Formats: sequence, C-alpha cells, structure tokens
Amino acid sequence: MRLRATLPILASLALLAGCGETGPGTPQPTPQAVAMRHMLADINQIRAYLYGSASQAQASGAASDLASWAKQVPALFPPELASQEYVDMSPERARAANAAMNTNAALLLASVQSGNQAAIADQLAATEKNGCGTCHLSGIK
Ligand code: HEC
Repeated sequence: MRLRATLPILASLALLAGCGETGPGTPQPTPQAVAMRHMLADINQIRAYLYGSASQAQASGAASDLASWAKQVPALFPPELASQEYVDMSPERARAANAAMNTNAALLLASVQSGNQAAIADQLAATEKNGCGTCHLSGIK
C-alpha cells in the first residue's frame, strides 16, 4: 500500500513535467484499474457476441475471465482498507460488490454457455447494473 501513496505525487510530477505526455514518466495504472479494464473488455466481448461480431467461444472465454476477476474483488478492495482509499467506498459497498460481482459473473458464464441469447442479454444487463453498479452507481454508499 506504500505504492498507493506515491501515485498522486508521480501524477503531479508528470503534470508539472509536461501536460499529459506519455513515456517512462507516465504513472502506471493501479492494479484495481488494470482489473477494471479487463472486466470492461470481457463485458464488451460478450456484448459483441450478442451483436453477432464475436463467437460463443470468445464470449465464453470472456465470461470465464470475468468470473476470475470477480474472485479478485476481496483482494483488490479489502472492505476496511478500500473505504479509506476511495472516498465513495464504504466497507458495506465493498462487501456487497464482492458478493454481487461473483454471483452475477457466475450467472453470466452459465447463460453464455447455454447459448440462450435472451438469457445472456438479461444477465449481461444485470451484471452491469447490479455487479459493476454496486460501485459505479450510487445507490449504496
Ligand atoms: C468493488 C467496486 C467496483 C466494482 C464491483 C467495479 N468497479 Fe470499476 N472501478 C472501481 C474503482 C474504485 C475504480 C477506480 C480504480 C483506480 O483507478 O484505482 C474503477 C474504475 C473503473 C474503470 C476505469 C479504469 C481505468 O482505466 O482507469 C472502468 C472502465 C471500470 N471501473 C469498469 C468496471 C466494470 C465494467 C465493472 C463490472 C464488470 C466494474 N468496473 C466493477 C470500483 C469498482
């Protein structure tokens, strides 16, 4: 967690050095941000399958990957710590997000494997709203 304290400093140094330039001085994304990018890519891959531009095998791989990332939520967002590091993350939100992500990712994987398009569409929406949304929508504090 020492890394976390240095990131804002690196970010401000990069800004001082030259406004958004990329290169060796560019701050690295946090492990949480890396996980998020993978999860978003998985969600997009499953949506691509629904729209006919990805195969069921690709969607199934993405759903498995999402389920694996969901299992990382407790490590990435330990409830007591996450609430100190993120202003809008209460311990309750972090705990609820862990449960919701794992439940929804498992249901999404099962629906993708079933190949039932309507079921996949419903579960994709539910995953975004109730899984991702636990943190990204502001119903729970
Ligand atoms: C446990 C709460 C939580 C859940 C669940 C969650 N997110 Fe996030 N998300 C965050 C936080 C916190 C950040 C900011 C991370 C950082 O930069 O340190 C973030 C950042 C992001 C980003 C920006 C990443 C970047 O490039 O900086 C994307 C995209 C994202 N989330 C998508 C998703 C998607 C898609 C889902 C569901 C599959 C999801 N998130 C579920 C908390 C969550």
